[in-house]
Order: sequence, then structure tokens, then C-alpha cells
Amino acid sequence: MRKFKWGIIGTGKIAHTFAVALRHNDDAQLCAVASRTDIKAKDFAEKYGFEKYYGSYREFAEQSDAEIVYIATPMASHYDDALLCLENGKNVLCEKSLTLNAQQTEQLLALAEKKGLFFMEAMWMKCRPVYRRMKEWIASGAIGDIEYIKADFSNNIPYDPNDRLFRADCGGGCLLDLGIYPLTLAHDLLGIPDEIISSAHMRYGVDISNSILLRYKNGAFASMDNGFEIQLSNNAVISGNKGYITLGNWFHCTCEGALFTSDGMEAERFVRKDDINGYEYEVDEVHRCLSEGLIESPLVPHSDTIAVMKLMDQCRQQWGMVFPEEKSNKE
Ligand SMILES: NC(=O)c1ccc[n+]([C@@H]2O[C@H](COP(=O)([O-])OP(=O)(O)OC[C@H]3O[C@@H](n4cnc5c(N)ncnc54)[C@H](OP(=O)(O)O)[C@@H]3O)[C@@H](O)[C@H]2O)c1
Repeated sequence: MRKFKWGIIGTGKIAHTFAVALRHNDDAQLCAVASRTDIKAKDFAEKYGFEKYYGSYREFAEQSDAEIVYIATPMASHYDDALLCLENGKNVLCEKSLTLNAQQTEQLLALAEKKGLFFMEAMWMKCRPVYRRMKEWIASGAIGDIEYIKADFSNNIPYDPNDRLFRADCGGGCLLDLGIYPLTLAHDLLGIPDEIISSAHMRYGVDISNSILLRYKNGAFASMDNGFEIQLSNNAVISGNKGYITLGNWFHCTCEGALFTSDGMEAERFVRKDDINGYEYEVDEVHRCLSEGLIESPLVPHSDTIAVMKLMDQCRQQWGMVFPEEKSNKE
């Protein structure tokens, strides 16, 4: 297989982790990195071996040879950064949450489709071996019809006014940062709910915890809790009328899942340790799609990304949470 020329926009925490996965991938060429400052771009490029660096996202988009760009900036920047990449003919892997709201997501994906460019939400959970095994168990009928999903996701980090997580102007709050994982799981397995009931604890202008209940006409429920400044189990349980599946200990990135019969006996356990750091599966999926000329990944389809963004819009609507950028767009 040919090498894929990667670029990265933003040199924060996850960009470092992702660069490690890229560096270990024989099919990836570390082409260029962009930061808002020259020095950060240079340091990052030297650390991971990128061929070029740019102290401006625009210069990177207009001048670099990168063919696929990993966008690792805060949520509120994704729309502009992705637009810049698409307008300059680049394929995009953009971190979650893809944008602040579904309208922005729809606009980006429509543009990517119009231009025939690959675009994928960096929903690495769906690319992971355990997640894919879980879907095989469900498709085989091992747990029967799904009746209940319970998933928690928390990150007990201390308040820092400069951290994007606590800044509404960066698209902060735990819904877009954490809640997207349980919602993606529930939507993937049960589809669009018939009713959504949600409540949030707002502090610092963002949701620092929230609770979401999805109800389906066939009687199924999905219940999820998310939060900063609190520690939850971070497990997921998917229960059907014939058995249940558990994804333990940070379910979105776990290496282990188990299948149980309805009387609680373990029927199968799947364990797959990561070769690198867990992001290698997402990189491989992008390479597979690009080599096959796909503009969307079957594992992370555009329609799913839009549907989950719409669920998050509905949650925020119920809490009355509007991002500053959304307010100024209305004025
Ligand atoms: N897939 C995962 O497991 C995972 C994990 C964590 C985060 N994420 C996602 O990745 C994205 C980045 O998260 P992170 O934790 O890496 O964030 P971070 O450490 O705050 O880094 C974000 C980077 O974006 C750039 N940036 C551009 N505009 C900015 C602004 N107005 N304020 C601050 N930084 C700005 C900065 O890079 P420069 O200074 O170089 O321009 C900064 O270092 C988010 O969308 C998040 O949801 C995904």
C-alpha cells in the first residue's frame, strides 16, 4: 500500500497521543504539522519527525502537501479548521465533537461530499476491536433484542478557567467532550430515540454534569450520566432479553468486553491489548477508506455523526445551553 501524507492541526494533548500512533504506522508519512505559533509547531515536528511545520493553520492548509488532516483543536474551532482544509482540497479526520451543533456538522459533511473528499469524525471507539466484537455478538443474536443500555462517562479533573473543558467559548462542557460517547453507543445500537429527557448541572457557563434518558417505542431505554468533577464507573452494560454485554473500565477505550447469558453466566470474554495506544485502529480505518476511494467510513458514517449531534442539540435545548458563537450568529 502507498504511504498516506498526514498533517495535524493543533498541538495539544490528544495531538501528541495521535502522533505516536501515526509514527508507528508504516503506511503513514508524517508530512506537516500546524500550530498557532511557530515554536510549538517546530517542537512538535521535531519530537515526532514531521517533515514540515507551520505557525499558521491557513499557511499549512494552503501550502502543505498533506492529503489527510487530523484536526485536534477545541470543539469551537473545528468548523473553521475543517472548512479551511476542505477548501484547500484536503481529506479530514476531525476530533469529536465534530462541531458545536448539527447545523455546522451538516454543512461540513455536505461540502466534503460535494468536493469528493473523505471526512470522518474521529470516533475512535467505533474502530476499536472490542467495540466491533460487541457488535458481532449483538448481530449474532447472542443477547436477543436490546432492552436497556446503561453507560457512564466522567473525568474527575479539577477546575481550570483556562482549560477548554470549562470554557463555553471553546465549546466546553461534558456533553460534547464525554457525553458523545454514551450517546454514540446508544444511537449505534438502538437508533434515533422517540423521546429524550435530559437535565444538566451548569457551572462556569458549561454543563459539568448531565443525565440523559433515551426512550424507544419498542420499550427500550438508554440511560447515561456524564460529568467533570465527579468519578463514575465509566462502564457500559448492554442488556437484551437473552443476555447482556459489559464493556468495563472506560468503556469507550477498553481492551476487554464480556458476553453473559441472561442468568449471569459468562459465555465469552474478548481481550485485545492495543499494539500502540489505541488510536492505531482509527488510523488504519482512514488508510483503508482512502485506499478504497471512499469519502466516508462505513464504521463512522456521516449519518451517525449528524444524528448524534442532533441528540446533543436536543439535550442543550432542554437545558437552555447556547454557546457564545451560536448567540452571536443569531444577533
Ligand atoms: N479521541 C480522544 O480520545 C480524545 C481525547 C481528548 C480530546 N479529544 C478531542 O480532541 C480535541 C482537542 O482536545 P485536547 O484535549 O487535545 O485539547 P488541548 O490540549 O486544549 O489542545 C487543543 C489545541 O488546539 C489548539 N487551539 C486552537 N485554538 C485554540 C483555542 N482557542 N484555545 C486553545 N487551544 C486552541 C492549540 O494548539 P496550537 O497552540 O498548537 O495551535 C491547542 O494545543 C477536542 O475536540 C477533544 O474533544 C479526543
